[in-house]
Amino acid sequence: MDDIESLLKESRNFKPKADFSRKAVWNPKTVAEMRKLGEKSPERFWAKMAKENISWFQPWKKTLEWKPPFAKWFVGGKLNVAYNCIDRHLEGENSWRRNKAAILWEGEPGDSRVLTYGDLHREVCKFANVLKSQGVKTGDRVAIYMPMIPELAIAMLACARIGAPHSIVFGGFSADSLRDRINDVGAKLLVTADGGFRRGKPLALKATADKALTGTPGVEKVIVVARTGETIEMQKGRDFWWHDLMADASALCPPAKLDSEHPLYILYTSGTTGKPKGILHTTGGYLVHVATTAKVIFDLQENDTYWCTADIGWVTGHSYVIYGMLANGATTLMYEGTPNTPAEDRFWSIIEKYRVTIFYTAPTAIRTFIRWGEAHVKKHDLSSLRLLGSVGEPINPEAWIWYHRVIGQERCPIVDTWWQTETGGIIISPLPGATATKPGSATHPFPGIQTAIYTEEGQEVKPPNGGLLVLKNPWPGMLRGIWGDKERYKSTYWGKFKNVYLAGDGAHKDKNGYFWIMGRVDDVMNISGHRIGTMEVESAIVAEPHVAEAAVVGRPDEITGTAIVAFVTPKQGVAPDDALREKILKQVVRGIGALARPAEIRFTDALPKTRSGKIMRRLLRDIACHKEIVSDTTTLEDYSVLAKLRNEE
Ligand code: PRX
Repeated sequence: MDDIESLLKESRNFKPKADFSRKAVWNPKTVAEMRKLGEKSPERFWAKMAKENISWFQPWKKTLEWKPPFAKWFVGGKLNVAYNCIDRHLEGENSWRRNKAAILWEGEPGDSRVLTYGDLHREVCKFANVLKSQGVKTGDRVAIYMPMIPELAIAMLACARIGAPHSIVFGGFSADSLRDRINDVGAKLLVTADGGFRRGKPLALKATADKALTGTPGVEKVIVVARTGETIEMQKGRDFWWHDLMADASALCPPAKLDSEHPLYILYTSGTTGKPKGILHTTGGYLVHVATTAKVIFDLQENDTYWCTADIGWVTGHSYVIYGMLANGATTLMYEGTPNTPAEDRFWSIIEKYRVTIFYTAPTAIRTFIRWGEAHVKKHDLSSLRLLGSVGEPINPEAWIWYHRVIGQERCPIVDTWWQTETGGIIISPLPGATATKPGSATHPFPGIQTAIYTEEGQEVKPPNGGLLVLKNPWPGMLRGIWGDKERYKSTYWGKFKNVYLAGDGAHKDKNGYFWIMGRVDDVMNISGHRIGTMEVESAIVAEPHVAEAAVVGRPDEITGTAIVAFVTPKQGVAPDDALREKILKQVVRGIGALARPAEIRFTDALPKTRSGKIMRRLLRDIACHKEIVSDTTTLEDYSVLAKLRNEE
């Protein structure tokens, strides 16, 4: 409630500039019409978007088939995502796009590559033929574990071209995480690279993949891109160099005519159990959702240069580095490395170099830039920018204002976009030509989508009270399930309220109908905009042989949004010292990846539990935040545990 109080005091209001509104893809009049249509009939609204924004080989028969909680969109329609993202920009009235930049790529060491739509077509067709020649058929899953290089985009589009669902694993994940994901998704081929450049050094990927591959019996072939030139091991008969296979591949590969509900990809995300969920997205609905939202929320004009800083290993990269952008024939920029290599002005130098017009990043990055100081920004000409976006976590009003003033130079509207891996595309966001924004609010749901805030009992709360964020009707980009786990899909998202999707976020609506997202309400933490489940980190910690028990909570952090605090009970006779701390940290990095490293490890003889043995995380959260214990302690089994934990502060 403290947060709600502080956000309610935020009364600044930024109206769209007349000039921007006039030229916008959706001007205020169109926005009003679309909202009206979306309210009257979400299906008609989405059918209109599907016709306007996507090319179909065969039209659909039914816009939506909703057998809660299972939805099918554009039933009977046939299309191909790669065709929509590439081929159609080479034909007819758009054929001039053949030599338009599809992907502008900047490597961390400063090398760069440009792939035009024509180039992309050739490379994607060739790699699609490579996949086929390695035995990949429609429906087979392909795992991808790569740095941010153009071959990553080529690989995913090649999968889409032949209807082989991809499952991309972020390059920061450990061998254990990669192995679990490969096995869960049942991939038969892995595409990887020798490594990528990060913080000025080559970061090995193939070596990590090799470790994962010792426990992945289903993987028959591995295709390796040479990026860093580091020496790696190649297993004969299993591992092949990308450039060798591509040398002989044909550049002719007709796109598969796929059913609208054909699986496009599976992307793993953390939940409240130790096991990540494979979120399944399909073809037609997903593409309609991401193409439409990309076009109107980012106000894509033909001559824009768009840069989203997310890694393609996350959903933001899937939807708004690649699919949504290329479907619109836009120019999308990919950057391989970190924002402070070689110096803290790298992002601004990239914006200046490529004359980026639309920039989409995360609040954690913005807070980091604030700490680094304005001087780095001032060194560069950012006058090309005309629109800014934010995603991944709530943006605090101070960061919003800095973003607006220093990066946007008070000229650029900001779209604060709320969505999730599960939603596929943006759900709540301003429409930049029409919505007056308030710093910290994602504003309103996209036309055709109904969001609401419910009490625990399923009643809509009255503004300005907080509650649970829900989606009241199906939307085209929604997840179609959790890979291999129907029950978990039903219970996680649809189990609390009948036929209503539970997002897992707390939110409130102000008296003007603006939505304010407060953050996760379940045991999922949001670290630098990345979702990490407390259970996952706990499982990794207890895998360290000296640990008896662990409980993990999040505490607010100025830069990363949330930082991980781990309460750990060592086994009998094990010294709770720094050596053990180190071992635990290593174990987490090995088990999940560096992104899940706890910021703090606190040793304790025992964890506070209820009489039924449940760890009282809320209590630990209070302690981790150095707050007074505000949670109810009446169910605590052993009060002395609490006293000890408090004394240790
Ligand atoms: O808590 C919300 C937060 O990120 C969660 C979704 O994480 P993930 O599936 O990894 O996708 C992140 C990128 C779409 C949400 O449940 N979140 C995302 N965007 C926002 C946000 N919280 C507040 N404001 C946002 N704009």
